[in-house]
Amino acid sequence: MRRISLVLLGFGNVGQAVASLLEDYDGYRTEGARLELGAVFDRGGGIDPSGVSAAELLRAKRANGTVTSLSTAPRLSVEDALGASEDTVLVDTSITDAETGGPGLAPSKRALDMGRSTVFASKGPLVAAFDDLAERAKANGARIGASAAVGIPLPSLEVGLLGLRGAGLTRFRGVLNDTTNQILRDLEAGLSLDESIERARIEGTIEEDPRLDVDGWDAAYKLLLLARAIWDPALPLSTVDTKGVGEVGKSDIDEARSRRKRIRLLATAERDDSGAFRLKTEAESVGAEDPIYHLGPGEKAVVFETREMGVITIRSSKGGPRATAACALKDVLNVAVAPSPFYAS
Ligand SMILES: NC(=O)c1ccc[n+]([C@@H]2O[C@H](COP(=O)([O-])OP(=O)(O)OC[C@H]3O[C@@H](n4cnc5c(N)ncnc54)[C@H](OP(=O)(O)O)[C@@H]3O)[C@@H](O)[C@H]2O)c1
Repeated sequence: MRRISLVLLGFGNVGQAVASLLEDYDGYRTEGARLELGAVFDRGGGIDPSGVSAAELLRAKRANGTVTSLSTAPRLSVEDALGASEDTVLVDTSITDAETGGPGLAPSKRALDMGRSTVFASKGPLVAAFDDLAERAKANGARIGASAAVGIPLPSLEVGLLGLRGAGLTRFRGVLNDTTNQILRDLEAGLSLDESIERARIEGTIEEDPRLDVDGWDAAYKLLLLARAIWDPALPLSTVDTKGVGEVGKSDIDEARSRRKRIRLLATAERDDSGAFRLKTEAESVGAEDPIYHLGPGEKAVVFETREMGVITIRSSKGGPRATAACALKDVLNVAVAPSPFYAS
């Protein structure tokens, strides 16, 4: 059976879940190939984890803060790891830094230049250098997966890119970031913004810098990546009119409630007949006729509006690191293993 070697950049919540899933699903052999960890990197450096179980990796990471503390595993550079096998996919689960591109940017450029497909959970490289990465992939016969970076676990990219091809997609809108909507639910329940942020911090559901969620940036990044992938890879971040939930007060919540509405942070992308784009994130009131109104904790949704196929809504029930890792591994399978004949090219 064909072996696909994963170079895992980042061994935090998501990276660790990738290692666990690979073991739990026996390398996804039933999907037509065997996925294996070829290298694991954290801030301390990289190792070849061959013969090391996920549990041992996790133990070493928890005990000593870095996978490089495993004395039995040889140390590796990114260059060596990417070069070891042609059947290699880079999986970037490192931190998101949208300004610089973060730790995943240089390795992902290198991987794509070498013709290695690359899958992102981190949004950083795709926000900072989408066009450049897409060009490198095209030039070298590699592919890019981004499902884990655009609002997991919704298959928004697959729907937008494949499912609605030629259907005349004019607009998509949705909840791409559950944290802000949990904040709005908390405000509805009478908590203050600070109390809600503190609660999210304790639960580990808010970014280290809460402004990324509260001010709408996380949703804006995801919206931008979807619009770039589906419509125009060159769309700049400045296209997104980004507003968050920080300004929403009790009077807004009460006013919406009096009209039987709820306020939710919506991310919306539109393309008009002239080809002009309008992208925004904004707290908006929605009524019971809107699928967004009904989303509960942990749920996300995207509503796609098309000229020829009408309105198509996708809705998800589960988030978290394991679902994120599952999305990244789905991308690995989709970029590296020929799918069913129904989609053979
Ligand atoms: N958590 C989720 O549910 C979720 C959902 C969707 C998308 N994401 C995205 O997925 C990514 C990972 O999330 P997470 O929750 O796993 O974050 P995390 O727990 O903070 O893990 C980030 C990892 O990146 C590593 N890292 C940082 N700088 C590095 C460098 N220079 N070289 C190699 N590794 C480096 C860190 O190393 P150390 O361990 O040594 O610090 C850590 O292992 C983020 O970009 C996040 O935005 C997460």
